Amino acid sequence: MKSQDELKVLVAREALRFVPKSGVLGVGSGSTVVKFIEQMQENKVLPEAAVSSSNKTTQLLTELGVKVLDPNEVTDYEVYIDGADEVDPKFRLIKGGGACLTREKILTSMAAKFVCIVDQSKMVQELGKFPLPVEVIPMAREKVARVLKEITGGRPVLREGCVTDNQCEILDVHDLRIQDPAALESAINNIPGVVTVGLFARRGADVVLYATEHEVKEIKASQA
Ligand code: 5RP
Repeated sequence: MKSQDELKVLVAREALRFVPKSGVLGVGSGSTVVKFIEQMQENKVLPEAAVSSSNKTTQLLTELGVKVLDPNEVTDYEVYIDGADEVDPKFRLIKGGGACLTREKILTSMAAKFVCIVDQSKMVQELGKFPLPVEVIPMAREKVARVLKEITGGRPVLREGCVTDNQCEILDVHDLRIQDPAALESAINNIPGVVTVGLFARRGADVVLYATEHEVKEIKASQA
C-alpha cells in the first residue's frame, strides 16, 4: 500500500506534462506542490518564468534558478498548478490549509487553465469536512467570527500562531455542511474584514489529477 507521500510524488510527476514550453507557469503552495517542484528539478522540466502563491514557493523556485515574476508584471497566463484540501465532483475546492489562499485565488483568476493535483484522500462528495479557511484582517477577527457563525452555523476557530504572507490571520470554520459552495463563497467574501475565503467554487479547477494506489487519474471539467 502506497503512503500519502508516495501518492503525492506520483501526481506531482504526472503534472510535469502541463508545464508550458515557453511563458509563465503559476505555482501554488503546500506539500504536494513542494513535491512538484522537486520533480521539476529532478526531471529538468523548468518553466521560462513563474508566478508564485507564497514566499516559500518563491524561495524554492528561485533556488532552482526559475525567475519568479511579480503578478503585476504579468497579464493572463496559461497554466496554474496547485494542490487542494478537498475536491468535489464538480471540481469545486477547499484550499488554504497552508494559509496561502489569497495569493492562490489571485493566481487562479489569472490562469487560463487550473490543474489541481491531489491524492485520492482529497476527493469528496460534499465540501466541508475539512475546516474552511477564511483569511481575515486582524482587527476584524472577532466580528468576522461572529458573522461566520451566524451565516454558516459552523464553528470558527482562530489558527493559532499563523500569520499569512499578507500579515493577516486565519479562521478555520469547522462543522460545516456546504450545500451551495458558490453562494457561500460570495456570502463570506461580502463580510467586511474578510480578505479571502478558501472556497474555490466560482472558479474551480479545470483539470484534476489524482493519484490512486494504481494510477494517476485525469478528469477534465467537461467530464465533471
Ligand atoms: C495551501 C493550499 C494547499 O494546496 C492545500 O492545503 C493542500 O496542501 P497539501 O498539498 O500539503 O496537502 O491550499 O494554502
